[in-house]
Amino acid sequence: MSDTTRDLPTPPDVIRCAYAELVVTDLQASKWFYTGLLGLVVTHETEDALYLRAFEEYLHHSLVVRQGPVAAAAKFAYRVRTPQDLDLAEAHYRALGVEVRRVPAGTTRGIGEAVQVVDPLGFPVEFFHEAEHVERFHQRYDLHGAGAISRLDHFNVVTPDVPAARAYYEGLGFKVSEDIEDDEGTVYAAWMYRKPTVHDVALTGGDGPRMHHIAFATHERSQILHLCDHLGAVRRSDQIERGPGRHGVSNAFYLYLLDPDGHRIEIYTHDYYTGDPDNPVITWDVHDNQRRDWWGNPVVPSWYANASTVLDLDGTPRPVTERTQDRESDVTIGADGFSYTRKDDEAVGFKVGHQV
Ligand SMILES: [Fe+2]
Repeated sequence: MSDTTRDLPTPPDVIRCAYAELVVTDLQASKWFYTGLLGLVVTHETEDALYLRAFEEYLHHSLVVRQGPVAAAAKFAYRVRTPQDLDLAEAHYRALGVEVRRVPAGTTRGIGEAVQVVDPLGFPVEFFHEAEHVERFHQRYDLHGAGAISRLDHFNVVTPDVPAARAYYEGLGFKVSEDIEDDEGTVYAAWMYRKPTVHDVALTGGDGPRMHHIAFATHERSQILHLCDHLGAVRRSDQIERGPGRHGVSNAFYLYLLDPDGHRIEIYTHDYYTGDPDNPVITWDVHDNQRRDWWGNPVVPSWYANASTVLDLDGTPRPVTERTQDRESDVTIGADGFSYTRKDDEAVGFKVGHQV
Protein backbone atom coordinates (compact mmCIF):
# COMPACT_ATOMS: atom_id res chain seq x y z
CA MET A 1 0.00 0.00 0.00
CA SER A 2 2.86 2.41 0.66
CA ASP A 3 3.63 2.32 -3.08
CA THR A 4 0.13 3.46 -3.92
CA THR A 5 0.30 6.46 -1.58
CA ARG A 6 3.43 7.94 -3.18
CA ASP A 7 1.96 10.06 -5.98
CA LEU A 8 -1.53 10.71 -4.74
CA PRO A 9 -3.33 14.03 -5.16
CA THR A 10 -3.27 16.35 -2.13
CA PRO A 11 -5.47 14.86 0.58
CA PRO A 12 -8.36 16.77 2.15
CA ASP A 13 -7.59 18.80 5.28
CA VAL A 14 -9.23 16.60 7.89
CA ILE A 15 -10.09 18.43 11.13
CA ARG A 16 -11.16 15.54 13.31
CA CYS A 17 -13.30 12.46 13.67
CA ALA A 18 -16.85 13.81 13.75
CA TYR A 19 -19.52 11.15 13.91
CA ALA A 20 -20.18 7.43 13.68
CA GLU A 21 -23.23 5.51 12.56
CA LEU A 22 -24.05 2.22 14.26
CA VAL A 23 -26.70 -0.29 13.20
CA VAL A 24 -28.51 -1.91 16.13
CA THR A 25 -31.14 -4.64 16.25
CA ASP A 26 -33.33 -3.24 19.06
CA LEU A 27 -33.55 0.53 18.90
CA GLN A 28 -35.47 0.89 22.16
CA ALA A 29 -32.86 -1.10 24.08
CA SER A 30 -30.17 1.06 22.50
CA LYS A 31 -32.10 4.22 23.35
CA TRP A 32 -31.87 3.36 27.03
CA PHE A 33 -28.14 2.71 26.75
CA TYR A 34 -27.23 5.84 24.81
CA THR A 35 -29.66 8.31 26.38
CA GLY A 36 -30.77 6.78 29.70
CA LEU A 37 -27.32 5.64 30.78
CA LEU A 38 -24.83 7.73 28.82
CA GLY A 39 -27.10 10.78 28.79
CA LEU A 40 -26.47 11.72 25.17
CA VAL A 41 -28.79 14.45 23.87
CA VAL A 42 -31.38 13.49 21.25
CA THR A 43 -31.12 16.02 18.42
CA HIS A 44 -33.64 14.16 16.30
CA GLU A 45 -35.55 10.90 16.48
CA THR A 46 -37.38 8.93 13.80
CA GLU A 47 -39.09 5.56 13.89
CA ASP A 48 -35.86 3.80 13.05
CA ALA A 49 -33.03 6.13 14.05
CA LEU A 50 -31.63 8.33 16.81
CA TYR A 51 -29.37 11.32 16.12
CA LEU A 52 -27.35 11.98 19.25
CA ARG A 53 -24.82 14.50 20.51
CA ALA A 54 -22.88 15.14 23.70
CA PHE A 55 -23.10 18.26 25.86
CA GLU A 56 -20.26 20.26 24.27
CA GLU A 57 -21.20 19.52 20.70
CA TYR A 58 -22.98 21.98 18.41
CA LEU A 59 -23.05 20.00 15.16
CA HIS A 60 -26.26 18.07 14.56
CA HIS A 61 -24.92 14.76 15.88
CA SER A 62 -21.82 12.79 16.75
CA LEU A 63 -23.59 9.43 16.72
CA VAL A 64 -26.39 7.97 14.63
CA VAL A 65 -27.96 4.78 15.99
CA ARG A 66 -30.10 3.11 13.37
CA GLN A 67 -32.35 0.04 13.50
CA GLY A 68 -31.29 -2.70 11.11
CA PRO A 69 -31.16 -6.45 10.58
CA VAL A 70 -27.54 -6.99 11.66
CA ALA A 71 -25.53 -5.15 14.32
CA ALA A 72 -22.72 -3.34 12.53
CA ALA A 73 -20.81 -0.11 12.07
CA ALA A 74 -22.13 1.70 9.01
CA LYS A 75 -20.03 4.86 8.89
CA PHE A 76 -16.96 6.62 10.28
CA ALA A 77 -17.23 10.32 9.41
CA TYR A 78 -14.49 12.96 9.45
CA ARG A 79 -15.05 16.70 9.16
CA VAL A 80 -12.89 18.58 6.63
CA ARG A 81 -11.88 22.24 6.87
CA THR A 82 -13.56 23.75 3.77
CA PRO A 83 -16.13 22.78 1.14
CA GLN A 84 -13.26 22.58 -1.37
CA ASP A 85 -11.74 19.76 0.66
CA LEU A 86 -14.56 17.56 -0.64
CA ASP A 87 -13.09 17.93 -4.14
CA LEU A 88 -9.68 16.96 -2.76
CA ALA A 89 -11.20 13.95 -0.99
CA GLU A 90 -12.93 12.81 -4.16
CA ALA A 91 -9.74 13.08 -6.24
CA HIS A 92 -7.60 11.49 -3.52
CA TYR A 93 -9.78 8.40 -3.20
CA ARG A 94 -10.39 8.04 -6.94
CA ALA A 95 -6.58 7.92 -7.30
CA LEU A 96 -6.49 5.26 -4.59
CA GLY A 97 -8.82 3.19 -6.76
CA VAL A 98 -11.51 2.63 -4.14
CA GLU A 99 -15.27 3.10 -4.35
CA VAL A 100 -16.18 6.81 -4.09
CA ARG A 101 -19.62 8.43 -3.92
CA ARG A 102 -20.40 12.14 -3.84
CA VAL A 103 -23.71 12.49 -2.03
CA PRO A 104 -25.93 15.59 -1.75
CA ALA A 105 -26.67 17.52 1.44
CA GLY A 106 -29.22 15.79 3.61
CA THR A 107 -28.27 12.26 2.56
CA THR A 108 -27.54 11.98 6.26
CA ARG A 109 -29.88 14.23 8.27
CA GLY A 110 -28.09 17.35 9.49
CA ILE A 111 -25.01 16.80 7.31
CA GLY A 112 -24.17 18.74 4.14
CA GLU A 113 -22.74 17.43 0.89
CA ALA A 114 -20.34 14.58 1.52
CA VAL A 115 -17.87 12.21 -0.05
CA GLN A 116 -18.34 8.59 0.96
CA VAL A 117 -15.70 5.95 0.32
CA VAL A 118 -14.78 2.42 1.19
CA ASP A 119 -11.27 3.25 2.28
CA PRO A 120 -8.25 1.08 1.32
CA LEU A 121 -8.56 -0.69 4.68
CA GLY A 122 -12.16 -1.67 3.87
CA PHE A 123 -13.99 0.77 6.16
CA PRO A 124 -17.00 2.91 5.20
CA VAL A 125 -15.72 6.47 5.66
CA GLU A 126 -17.37 9.83 5.00
CA PHE A 127 -15.93 13.34 4.65
CA PHE A 128 -18.13 16.40 5.10
CA HIS A 129 -17.76 20.09 5.88
CA GLU A 130 -21.23 21.60 6.23
CA ALA A 131 -23.43 20.50 9.08
CA GLU A 132 -26.50 21.87 10.80
CA HIS A 133 -25.76 23.70 14.03
CA VAL A 134 -27.81 23.04 17.14
CA GLU A 135 -27.65 24.44 20.67
CA ARG A 136 -24.45 23.71 22.56
CA PHE A 137 -25.47 22.45 25.97
CA HIS A 138 -22.09 22.87 27.70
CA GLN A 139 -23.61 25.13 30.36
CA ARG A 140 -26.96 23.39 30.64
CA TYR A 141 -25.87 22.01 33.99
CA ASP A 142 -29.52 21.47 34.79
CA LEU A 143 -29.44 18.70 32.17
CA HIS A 144 -26.01 17.25 32.94
CA GLY A 145 -26.11 14.09 34.98
CA ALA A 146 -23.22 13.01 37.18
CA GLY A 147 -21.86 11.01 34.25
CA ALA A 148 -22.03 13.84 31.70
CA ILE A 149 -20.27 13.16 28.40
CA SER A 150 -18.60 16.09 26.61
CA ARG A 151 -17.85 15.01 23.05
CA LEU A 152 -16.86 12.26 20.65
CA ASP A 153 -13.12 11.58 20.95
CA HIS A 154 -11.98 8.79 18.60
CA PHE A 155 -12.57 5.68 16.55
CA ASN A 156 -10.62 2.43 17.06
CA VAL A 157 -10.55 0.07 14.10
CA VAL A 158 -9.18 -3.45 13.67
CA THR A 159 -7.04 -4.08 10.60
CA PRO A 160 -4.70 -6.96 9.72
CA ASP A 161 -1.71 -4.94 8.53
CA VAL A 162 -0.99 -2.03 10.89
CA PRO A 163 2.08 -0.62 9.03
CA ALA A 164 0.06 -0.46 5.80
CA ALA A 165 -2.83 1.18 7.61
CA ARG A 166 -0.45 3.66 9.23
CA ALA A 167 1.01 4.55 5.81
CA TYR A 168 -2.48 5.07 4.43
CA TYR A 169 -3.46 7.43 7.28
CA GLU A 170 -0.13 9.27 7.02
CA GLY A 171 -1.02 9.85 3.36
CA LEU A 172 -4.22 11.46 4.65
CA GLY A 173 -2.18 13.83 6.85
CA PHE A 174 -2.51 12.04 10.18
CA LYS A 175 0.45 11.81 12.61
CA VAL A 176 1.34 9.03 15.01
CA SER A 177 1.29 9.83 18.74
CA GLU A 178 2.02 6.35 20.15
CA ASP A 179 2.49 2.80 18.90
CA ILE A 180 3.19 -0.72 20.17
CA GLU A 181 5.98 -2.85 18.72
CA ASP A 182 8.27 -5.72 19.66
CA ASP A 183 12.01 -6.25 19.24
CA GLU A 184 11.43 -8.13 15.97
CA GLY A 185 9.72 -5.11 14.45
CA THR A 186 6.16 -6.41 14.52
CA VAL A 187 3.77 -3.48 14.93
CA TYR A 188 0.69 -4.32 16.98
CA ALA A 189 -1.14 -1.00 17.13
CA ALA A 190 -0.80 2.72 16.35
CA TRP A 191 -2.62 5.87 17.55
CA MET A 192 -3.03 8.67 14.98
CA TYR A 193 -4.41 12.19 15.14
CA ARG A 194 -5.47 15.35 13.32
CA LYS A 195 -6.98 17.27 16.24
CA PRO A 196 -4.33 17.95 18.93
CA THR A 197 -5.07 15.00 21.18
CA VAL A 198 -3.57 11.50 21.26
CA HIS A 199 -5.82 10.26 18.47
CA ASP A 200 -8.76 10.51 16.14
CA VAL A 201 -8.26 6.92 15.05
CA ALA A 202 -6.44 3.99 16.59
CA LEU A 203 -5.30 1.06 14.46
CA THR A 204 -5.47 -2.28 16.26
CA GLY A 205 -3.84 -5.33 14.64
CA GLY A 206 -6.31 -8.17 14.10
CA ASP A 207 -8.82 -9.66 11.69
CA GLY A 208 -10.40 -6.80 9.81
CA PRO A 209 -11.96 -4.56 8.76
CA ARG A 210 -13.89 -4.51 12.03
CA MET A 211 -14.73 -1.73 14.51
CA HIS A 212 -13.07 -2.19 17.87
CA HIS A 213 -14.79 0.74 19.57
CA ILE A 214 -15.77 4.37 19.42
CA ALA A 215 -14.95 6.64 22.33
CA PHE A 216 -16.61 9.59 24.00
CA ALA A 217 -14.81 11.99 26.32
CA THR A 218 -15.78 13.28 29.74
CA HIS A 219 -14.09 16.11 31.62
CA GLU A 220 -13.59 14.22 34.85
CA ARG A 221 -12.74 10.74 36.09
CA SER A 222 -15.64 11.01 38.53
CA GLN A 223 -18.08 11.05 35.60
CA ILE A 224 -16.72 7.69 34.44
CA LEU A 225 -17.00 6.25 37.95
CA HIS A 226 -20.59 7.45 38.15
CA LEU A 227 -21.45 5.52 34.98
CA CYS A 228 -20.17 2.37 36.70
CA ASP A 229 -22.27 3.11 39.78
CA HIS A 230 -25.29 3.77 37.57
CA LEU A 231 -24.92 0.42 35.81
CA GLY A 232 -24.57 -1.36 39.13
CA ALA A 233 -27.68 0.33 40.49
CA VAL A 234 -29.82 -0.86 37.59
CA ARG A 235 -28.27 -4.36 37.66
CA ARG A 236 -26.56 -3.89 34.30
CA SER A 237 -22.97 -4.34 35.47
CA ASP A 238 -22.52 -7.02 32.80
CA GLN A 239 -22.41 -4.17 30.28
CA ILE A 240 -19.05 -3.14 31.78
CA GLU A 241 -16.50 -5.10 29.75
CA ARG A 242 -13.24 -3.64 31.06
CA GLY A 243 -12.15 -1.01 33.57
CA PRO A 244 -12.36 1.55 34.91
CA GLY A 245 -8.62 1.99 34.69
CA ARG A 246 -5.72 4.14 33.52
CA HIS A 247 -4.23 3.41 30.11
CA GLY A 248 -0.46 3.32 29.64
CA VAL A 249 -0.89 4.26 25.98
CA SER A 250 -2.49 7.75 25.87
CA ASN A 251 -2.44 8.07 29.69
CA ALA A 252 -6.25 8.28 29.55
CA PHE A 253 -8.59 7.14 32.28
CA TYR A 254 -10.96 4.67 30.62
CA LEU A 255 -14.03 2.48 30.80
CA TYR A 256 -15.25 0.05 28.13
CA LEU A 257 -18.96 -0.63 27.91
CA LEU A 258 -20.92 -2.93 25.61
CA ASP A 259 -24.15 -1.61 24.14
CA PRO A 260 -27.11 -4.02 23.86
CA ASP A 261 -25.77 -5.32 20.51
CA GLY A 262 -22.22 -5.72 21.77
CA HIS A 263 -20.84 -2.57 20.14
CA ARG A 264 -17.98 -1.46 22.35
CA ILE A 265 -18.15 2.13 23.62
CA GLU A 266 -15.22 3.64 25.49
CA ILE A 267 -15.60 6.51 27.93
CA TYR A 268 -12.30 8.34 28.08
CA THR A 269 -10.63 11.33 29.77
CA HIS A 270 -7.23 12.85 30.67
CA ASP A 271 -5.14 12.24 27.58
CA TYR A 272 -2.70 14.99 26.54
CA TYR A 273 -1.99 17.77 24.02
CA THR A 274 -0.19 16.77 20.83
CA GLY A 275 -0.51 19.91 18.68
CA ASP A 276 3.14 21.01 18.38
CA PRO A 277 4.84 19.92 15.15
CA ASP A 278 7.61 18.09 17.02
CA ASN A 279 5.30 16.16 19.34
CA PRO A 280 7.39 13.10 20.27
CA VAL A 281 6.15 9.63 19.35
CA ILE A 282 5.94 7.21 22.28
CA THR A 283 6.72 3.59 21.36
CA TRP A 284 5.68 0.86 23.79
CA ASP A 285 7.16 -2.63 23.99
CA VAL A 286 4.38 -5.17 23.49
CA HIS A 287 5.77 -7.07 26.50
CA ASP A 288 5.26 -4.08 28.82
CA ASN A 289 2.38 -4.98 31.13
CA GLN A 290 1.56 -1.33 31.71
CA ARG A 291 0.93 -0.33 28.09
CA ARG A 292 -2.75 -1.25 28.10
CA ASP A 293 -3.36 -0.67 31.81
CA TRP A 294 -1.04 1.56 33.81
CA TRP A 295 -1.95 -0.28 36.99
CA GLY A 296 -1.08 -3.65 35.47
CA ASN A 297 -4.58 -5.07 35.49
CA PRO A 298 -5.00 -7.83 32.91
CA VAL A 299 -7.14 -7.24 29.84
CA VAL A 300 -10.18 -9.49 29.48
CA PRO A 301 -9.87 -11.83 26.46
CA SER A 302 -13.13 -10.56 24.90
CA TRP A 303 -11.54 -7.12 24.52
CA TYR A 304 -8.99 -8.63 22.15
CA ALA A 305 -11.30 -11.11 20.42
CA ASN A 306 -14.56 -9.26 19.78
CA ALA A 307 -15.23 -6.42 17.39
CA SER A 308 -18.13 -5.15 15.30
CA THR A 309 -18.80 -6.02 11.67
CA VAL A 310 -18.53 -3.08 9.28
CA LEU A 311 -20.75 -2.41 6.25
CA ASP A 312 -20.05 -1.27 2.73
CA LEU A 313 -21.80 1.79 1.26
CA ASP A 314 -24.84 -0.32 0.34
CA GLY A 315 -25.22 -1.77 3.84
CA THR A 316 -23.71 -5.18 3.12
CA PRO A 317 -21.29 -6.65 5.69
CA ARG A 318 -17.67 -6.39 4.60
CA PRO A 319 -15.60 -9.58 4.40
CA VAL A 320 -12.87 -9.96 7.02
CA THR A 321 -9.22 -10.71 6.28
CA GLU A 322 -7.23 -12.62 8.89
CA ARG A 323 -4.14 -11.09 10.48
CA THR A 324 -1.15 -13.32 9.81
CA GLN A 325 1.38 -11.60 12.10
CA ASP A 326 1.52 -12.09 15.87
CA ARG A 327 -1.38 -10.66 17.83
CA GLU A 328 -1.16 -8.58 20.95
CA SER A 329 -3.55 -10.99 22.69
CA ASP A 330 -1.01 -13.81 22.24
CA VAL A 331 1.53 -11.80 24.18
CA THR A 332 -0.86 -10.67 26.88
CA ILE A 333 -2.80 -13.82 27.47
CA GLY A 334 0.32 -15.88 27.53
CA ALA A 335 1.21 -17.77 24.38
CA ASP A 336 4.82 -16.82 24.95
CA GLY A 337 4.43 -16.41 28.71
CA PHE A 338 6.75 -13.43 28.75
CA SER A 339 5.94 -9.93 29.87
CA TYR A 340 7.27 -7.49 32.43
CA THR A 341 6.25 -4.71 34.78
CA ARG A 342 9.81 -3.35 34.98
CA LYS A 343 13.01 -4.46 33.33
CA ASP A 344 15.89 -5.43 35.63
CA ASP A 345 18.06 -2.54 34.46
CA GLU A 346 15.26 0.03 34.49
CA ALA A 347 15.28 2.88 37.00
CA VAL A 348 12.14 2.81 39.11
CA GLY A 349 10.60 5.32 41.49
CA PHE A 350 11.38 3.61 44.75
CA LYS A 351 15.09 3.50 43.83
CA VAL A 352 15.56 7.00 42.47
CA GLY A 353 13.05 9.02 44.45
CA HIS A 354 11.97 12.06 42.52
CA GLN A 355 14.96 12.10 40.16
CA VAL A 356 13.22 11.31 36.93
FE1 LIG B 1 -9.97 4.05 22.65
